[in-house]
Amino acid sequence: MGFPNRVFFPILFLLCSIFSIQSSAQTLGFRCTANATCNSLIDYKLPNTTTVSSILKLFDIKNLRSLLAANNLPITTPQNYPLSASQILKIPFPCSCFNGSGISNRRPNYTVVPADGLYHIAAEVFSGLVTFPQIQVINNIPDQNNISIGQKLWIPLPCSCDEVNGEKVVHYGHLVAAGDSVSGYAEQFNTTESELLSLNRMINSADLKADSIFDVPLKVCTSMVQNNSMDYPLLVPNGTYTFTANNCVRCQCNAANNWILECEPAGINLTRGQTCPSMQCSGTPNLALGNTTSNSSCALTRCAYAGYRNRAVFTTLTQESTCPEGNNNSPSGNNSPSGNGSSGLRSSFILGVLLIAFHLFW
Ligand SMILES: *[C@@H]1O[C@H](CO)[C@@H](O)[C@H](O)[C@H]1NC(C)=O
Ligand SMILES: *[C@@H]1O[C@H](CO)[C@@H](O)[C@H](O)[C@H]1NC(C)=O
Ligand SMILES: *[C@@H]1O[C@H](CO)[C@@H](O)[C@H](O)[C@H]1NC(C)=O
Ligand SMILES: *[C@@H]1O[C@H](CO)[C@@H](O)[C@H](O)[C@H]1NC(C)=O
Ligand SMILES: *[C@@H]1O[C@H](CO)[C@@H](O)[C@H](O)[C@H]1NC(C)=O
Ligand SMILES: *[C@@H]1O[C@H](CO)[C@@H](O)[C@H](O)[C@H]1NC(C)=O
Ligand SMILES: *[C@@H]1O[C@H](CO)[C@@H](O)[C@H](O)[C@H]1NC(C)=O
Ligand SMILES: *[C@@H]1O[C@H](CO)[C@@H](O)[C@H](O)[C@H]1NC(C)=O
Ligand SMILES: *[C@@H]1O[C@H](CO)[C@@H](O)[C@H](O)[C@H]1NC(C)=O
Ligand SMILES: *[C@@H]1O[C@H](CO)[C@@H](O)[C@H](O)[C@H]1NC(C)=O
Ligand SMILES: *[C@@H]1O[C@H](CO)[C@@H](O)[C@H](O)[C@H]1NC(C)=O
Ligand SMILES: *[C@@H]1O[C@H](CO)[C@@H](O)[C@H](O)[C@H]1NC(C)=O
Repeated sequence: MGFPNRVFFPILFLLCSIFSIQSSAQTLGFRCTANATCNSLIDYKLPNTTTVSSILKLFDIKNLRSLLAANNLPITTPQNYPLSASQILKIPFPCSCFNGSGISNRRPNYTVVPADGLYHIAAEVFSGLVTFPQIQVINNIPDQNNISIGQKLWIPLPCSCDEVNGEKVVHYGHLVAAGDSVSGYAEQFNTTESELLSLNRMINSADLKADSIFDVPLKVCTSMVQNNSMDYPLLVPNGTYTFTANNCVRCQCNAANNWILECEPAGINLTRGQTCPSMQCSGTPNLALGNTTSNSSCALTRCAYAGYRNRAVFTTLTQESTCPEGNNNSPSGNNSPSGNGSSGLRSSFILGVLLIAFHLFW
């Protein structure tokens, strides 16, 4: 006879749980029904003390500025800037949706080093952002114990490009902390509990697990970027900034400014003597990108960013109402630079687009 029951059943139970963990651990990515590519974000808890440059290398991030911008770090942060263990960074990466799921679009492309194992890579190098069966499945590895030094592995980070309630959003893989709740996220990110559960293929809020990665849709600022622009749709979530138009334009999103995207000349030095065009909105008054001006009846005119194509940058004049609700005191009639001139607005919205101008580089 085999095992007595008190041994057999626990073993059977263990086998069943391992099997079910493994089959769910193989499911790739977040729910994504769109057939699309987009940009996404994920939390990465640093396993070790490291530097900005090793993070860029680990995640195949080509542009230092995109990592700094995603984390709202100063643009002057150097590559050798030290980062401490357990710190959480937001990693920007390209997402691709296929067959109902979204995963990072062929990167990070990790190179196996001596003494690596799939479990170590998944759990310790990438801090559990993926499971080892997911790495195994996406890279068609028949034997999990047989990987070779120098072998390249696609690490399938979860992401999505789906719209939420008909609005474009940025999907952010949020690292769940102990004590977090779905209702808390709904409040913090201005969405609903049922929306979050549905995005995360979850039935019950009580199933939220600490240290798991939870799909949170980040609302983005309204932009004037046209659909034929090379950076369309320019999705900038609240509290972050981004560089676009070949690094010539910096755009930031602040929910407190009524979710209107604020763009201005980036003012950074480009390589190899390239220069940015002077970005003016033509017409009267003559404003540069990011400038706003208001007349005495609480109408704010803004020179807004409308996109770029090849070497042309587009601008457009927009009208916003700055009348405080129920109170008609007019804002100061001065011209003011962007990022600052529009603070204190209470009910501002875009009333109309006046015109578009463009200028060539070089
Ligand atoms: C998504 O793309 C695949 C391959 O390009 C195509 O076969 C499929 O029909 C597309 N699905 C939708 C819903 O567009
Ligand atoms: C699409 O997903 C289903 C399960 O969701 C899976 O059975 C099928 O093999 C997948 N197809 C491809 C081409 O990956
Ligand atoms: C990873 O990089 C290698 C060579 O550097 C390349 O052959 C491979 O296609 C890349 N993998 C992916 C998933 O792009
Ligand atoms: C962190 O340190 C551990 C132990 O030294 C090592 O195994 C692991 O690969 C390191 N992780 C990274 C991302 O460098
Ligand atoms: C390991 O995989 C390689 C191919 O990737 C294969 O040639 C080799 O026979 C495998 N080794 C074992 C022990 O299975
Ligand atoms: C929350 O979202 C609703 C609808 O999407 C919107 O009307 C409201 O202004 C948002 N609240 C904040 C604080 O952004
Ligand atoms: C782009 O926008 C224009 C109007 O601004 C619209 O007529 C056109 O259908 C749009 N094209 C696409 C592909 O969405
Ligand atoms: C926007 O971001 C700021 C700071 O990053 C935060 O304090 C604020 O609560 C956020 N607002 C919304 C509606 O998400
Ligand atoms: C750009 O270059 C000029 C002169 O080379 C320098 O004075 C300035 O500080 C640089 N600006 C930035 C943002 O690096
Ligand atoms: C202020 O600007 C708005 C929009 O351009 C215009 O309708 C309004 O007449 C202007 N008011 C004054 C006093 O110039
Ligand atoms: C326009 O904005 C720039 C900085 O973005 C500022 O230096 C300039 O003074 C502004 N001009 C006007 C007319 O507000
Ligand atoms: C403009 O910004 C400066 C510093 O960032 C701040 O001290 C000042 O109060 C702001 N002005 C307005 C009108 O918000």
